[in-house]
Amino acid sequence: MTNQNEPIHTAFTQLMGIKYPIIGAPMFLVSNEDMVIEVSNAGGLGTFPALNFRPTDRYADAIKKIKKSSDKPIGVNIIVNKSNRRQSQDLKIALDNGVDLFVTSLGNPKTVIEEAHKIGAKVICDVTNLEHAKKVEDLGADGVVAVSAGAGGHAGPTNPFVLIPWLKKELHIPIIAAGGVAHGSALLAALALGASAVHVGTRFIASTEASIPIEYKNAIIDATPDDIILTPRITGTPATYINNEYLKSLSKDLPFAVKWLKENPRTKKYIVPLVHYMGYKIFEKAISSPHKAPVWSAGQSSGLVNEILPCKEIIDRLVTEFWEAKNNV
Ligand SMILES: Cc1cc2nc3c(=O)[nH]c(=O)nc-3n(C[C@H](O)[C@H](O)[C@H](O)COP(=O)(O)O)c2cc1C
Repeated sequence: MTNQNEPIHTAFTQLMGIKYPIIGAPMFLVSNEDMVIEVSNAGGLGTFPALNFRPTDRYADAIKKIKKSSDKPIGVNIIVNKSNRRQSQDLKIALDNGVDLFVTSLGNPKTVIEEAHKIGAKVICDVTNLEHAKKVEDLGADGVVAVSAGAGGHAGPTNPFVLIPWLKKELHIPIIAAGGVAHGSALLAALALGASAVHVGTRFIASTEASIPIEYKNAIIDATPDDIILTPRITGTPATYINNEYLKSLSKDLPFAVKWLKENPRTKKYIVPLVHYMGYKIFEKAISSPHKAPVWSAGQSSGLVNEILPCKEIIDRLVTEFWEAKNNV
C-alpha cells in the first residue's frame, strides 16, 4: 500500500504551507523557471539562484513567469557575501514579487532576514557546522540548510548521520538536510534524524526540464559515488565534481601563488571572490561548450540517479519511496 497522495507533515511544511518536505535546491546555472514551477506545483518547493538570470531584468521576468504558472510557494537563493553586488537589488525584486522563501549562502544573512520578515517571507541559511548554525538562528533565521559531506556544490565536511542530530540537539528552528538525497528512503532517514525537510540538488540535474547539455545529464547517470571528487581547484572552496579526464589534467590544488594570496590577510578579501568568480566562469564555459572543458558539478547521490525524469515524476517517486520505506520499517 502506498500513501502517495497523503501530505507529509513536518515543521517545515507547516511553516511554508507545502505538501511535501522537499525543496528543489538552488543550483547555479542549472535551476530554471520550469524546474521551479514543476517542483512547487508537485507539492515540493522550487528554488533558484538569483544570479542564474543576468542582467537583473531577466531575473525579475523569471520570477514573474514562475508566479504566473504557480500559486505555490517558491524560493530564491541569494549569495550574501561581498562578491555579490546585486544582493540588495535582487532581494527587493523578490520581495516586491511575492517570493516566499530565501535561501542564503556564503556570508552574513542579517539584512535578508530583516527585510524578508517585514513582509512575512521566510529565510533559511546554508550552514555546515553548529557554530554558523547558532549564529544564523540568533539572527532570526527560520531554518538552517545543513549541508553535509557528499552534497552537490560546496559540500560540508560532516556526515549527515552526525550533522543533523548535532544541530538538532542545539537548535530550535527547522533543519533542512542537504546532501545525498536521491531516493525517498533518504527523506525518511533525514526526518528520523531530526530534519524537517530535504534539499535536493543533484537528482534534479538529470531532469527533463533542466536546460543544460545532455553530456552533463548523462555524466550524472553514468557516475558512481566513486567518481565524485571534492576539490578546491575550480572555485577556491572545496566543491564536488564528477571526475573526468579534463579534471584529472588540472593540478589538484590552486596554483601556489593564488593559494598564498588567498591566505594572506591583506589580499584574502580580494582574491577569494576573484577565484570564486573565475570558477563560476569555468562552469559557465562548460555549460556552453561541453566538449572542450567538461566541469560537471554534482554530489555523491549521482550514483543513485539512473534516468532523466520530469521534475514532477522525481517528486512523486521520492514520495512513493518514502512511504514504501516507512511502511517497511
Ligand atoms: C550544480 C550545482 C550548483 C549549485 N549551486 C548552488 C548555488 O548557487 N547556491 C547554493 O546555495 N547552493 C548551490 N548548490 C547546492 C544545492 O543547493 C544543494 O544544497 C545540494 O545540491 C544538495 O546536495 P545534493 O546535490 O546531494 O542533493 C549547488 C549544487 C549543485 C549540484
